[in-house]
Amino acid sequence: MRRLLLLLMAILVLRAQNPDWFPKKDMLTIGVYYYPEAWPQEQWARDMGNIRKLGMEYVHMGEFAWYFMEPQEGKYQFDWLEKNVALAAQNGLKVVLCTPSATPPIWLTRAHPEILMVDAQGRTMEHGSREHADWSSPLYREYVTKIDTELAKKFGHDPRVWGWQIDNELSHYGRRFSYSRAATAKFREWLKEKYGTIERLNRDWGGAFWSTMYQNFDQIEIPNEETLVADPSPHAVLDFRRWFAHEAADYIDMQAKIIRRYQGEHKQWITTNFMTMHGDVDPALSQKTLDVFSWTHYPVHGELNEGPLGFRLGSAEQMSFMHDFMRSFNGLSGPMELQPGQVNWGDVNPWPLPGAIHMWLLRAFGAGARLVCTYRYRQPLYGSELYHKGLAETDGVTPSPGGREYAQAMQDVVELRKHYVADAKEPTDYAARRTAFLISFDARWDIENHPQTKRWDTVEHWFRYYRALKSMMAPVDVITADRDFSKYPFVVAPAYQLLDEELVRRWTEYVQNGGHLILTSRTGQKDTRGHLWEALWAAPIYPLIGARIPIYDVLPVGVNGNVEAEGKRYQWGSWGDVLEPEEGTEVMAQYADQFYAGRAAAVDHKLGKGTVTYIGVDTMDGELERALLHRVYAEAGASPADLAPNFFVDWRDGFWVATNFASVPQEIPAAQGAQVLVGNRTVAPGEATVWVDR
Ligand code: GAL
Repeated sequence: MRRLLLLLMAILVLRAQNPDWFPKKDMLTIGVYYYPEAWPQEQWARDMGNIRKLGMEYVHMGEFAWYFMEPQEGKYQFDWLEKNVALAAQNGLKVVLCTPSATPPIWLTRAHPEILMVDAQGRTMEHGSREHADWSSPLYREYVTKIDTELAKKFGHDPRVWGWQIDNELSHYGRRFSYSRAATAKFREWLKEKYGTIERLNRDWGGAFWSTMYQNFDQIEIPNEETLVADPSPHAVLDFRRWFAHEAADYIDMQAKIIRRYQGEHKQWITTNFMTMHGDVDPALSQKTLDVFSWTHYPVHGELNEGPLGFRLGSAEQMSFMHDFMRSFNGLSGPMELQPGQVNWGDVNPWPLPGAIHMWLLRAFGAGARLVCTYRYRQPLYGSELYHKGLAETDGVTPSPGGREYAQAMQDVVELRKHYVADAKEPTDYAARRTAFLISFDARWDIENHPQTKRWDTVEHWFRYYRALKSMMAPVDVITADRDFSKYPFVVAPAYQLLDEELVRRWTEYVQNGGHLILTSRTGQKDTRGHLWEALWAAPIYPLIGARIPIYDVLPVGVNGNVEAEGKRYQWGSWGDVLEPEEGTEVMAQYADQFYAGRAAAVDHKLGKGTVTYIGVDTMDGELERALLHRVYAEAGASPADLAPNFFVDWRDGFWVATNFASVPQEIPAAQGAQVLVGNRTVAPGEATVWVDR
């Protein structure tokens, strides 16, 4: 009897486990978006066949197609989608379906304009584009629930459907929030839940400042600079940013639950395609909801980036950082939209350098991505994105230059799979540099709300350190502080402006056990409400860093300060913490001018078995930060490399992968006997090389 019970339990556990959606030995899979509703049905079979001919392994459909799924309220129509799912399967393509919630149909918005987003000026958004609905509206959520339910009933059991994407780039496009009655009501509810009483809210929002006291939660509005004469409470703004991210995560979760409810034994994975680096929505809040972490990335859209070819190559660090962040949740990650060629929405939309698209795909491979998808297969002939390239030219059949690069990358991956060795061991030298890069959305929001100098840019600050780490060939996991960092040899926590005692305790324990912690400018100024401590400036970190921070300085545009380390000078302008080291704390860099010339800008403190480095100055080009990190890693015995800027080298599953985002050729750091599998030992700008050291 007991045996039978154990057997039954084992079966249940096995059934509850997720299927092997991404077999390790396949490493990476590449797919493409297709919008069947936009093309004549006679072309569907041909297009699906051609997608497969390009080597793509899956197709992504249904995004934005609400009108075609439900042309009238309650009248569902999935035959067109069903036909395309069948065609995909006949061509050996897996299918990713999408919930269409980013594009409510006209019958819905006309019948219920109250579901629409209201902008900061109080204007209700109109039909005629996308992302115009308000996901806080209970009525909108009801309609989304209905269409998702029908979709899930129809396809949730379908073994041809591999995964689902929820909505599209949920965010209203970067710092555009809804100020509707529905959003306000949800914000108030969240505050009630958080504070319990209005007295607590008044205390944490600083109601005694300018008499901004509230008597009850119903008096609270979303802080909106358009309706305020002077600055709102920074604590109210911080709470609003937190609420907004939670609300988005809650909406993603609501949709995921609907799909899961109707899923059969054949479980399908669920993702949503987050927007790169926008920072309004926090993927870490969806850790319990999502099976796969994906995002959208368009590296070339008129930004100059580094070097003369930077505008055609994209930013190495932006691309790499997102991989390192999204991979850190559960290892199942990849860009859901990676640029296929010229786009239409940048200030200027130049061509990517020939080869660059292929390089981005191999960068995804090197960074450990399990999937890449591209938007889109066919270039549209009408609509606001008609200048946007696809994998096929405007005739619908000829592969575009980007299409050929996708096909090449897929062929490379298929070839590399033949060299896959299960459980290849990460090289020891490389593992010795593994770094947890701690980011905080709260800190980013708080700084954005009150930067204290317009020269400060949090993401740029992060990147100065990230870039340094990549030049040292350090594998990096970008994580939020809710994750365990105790096993990493190094932790870098840049501009960690808000913290609590618990984090300070964890950092201290980490260092005492032998970890190397690097903290940077602005860290520890405030508690998690965004209040200063009733103690000396940033006092909670003094015992950790072995120094005090009596003052910080910021310089006006046009004035740069100098800082010196090991006989070299560096310029800074955005932020300088002036440090006062205790006895025994080593000074690593000092200011070379201003009224605090000679005082410390960076210090190193031995604590227990480890070290804490505090770099208080934010330099113009990050070269000081690079030199100091190099020193810390070398002293810890981690033998940092010295790669040229924008030349990134990663290790994945036994393969070394080099991608060159620099405008000059680079040599791969490989032993003579290394076997090059893709590319060449000399890596031209926009090229990639893969090799094995066996
Ligand atoms: C993305 C969006 C896609 C498409 C693409 C064009 O931001 O998610 O739907 O508009 O841009 O580059």
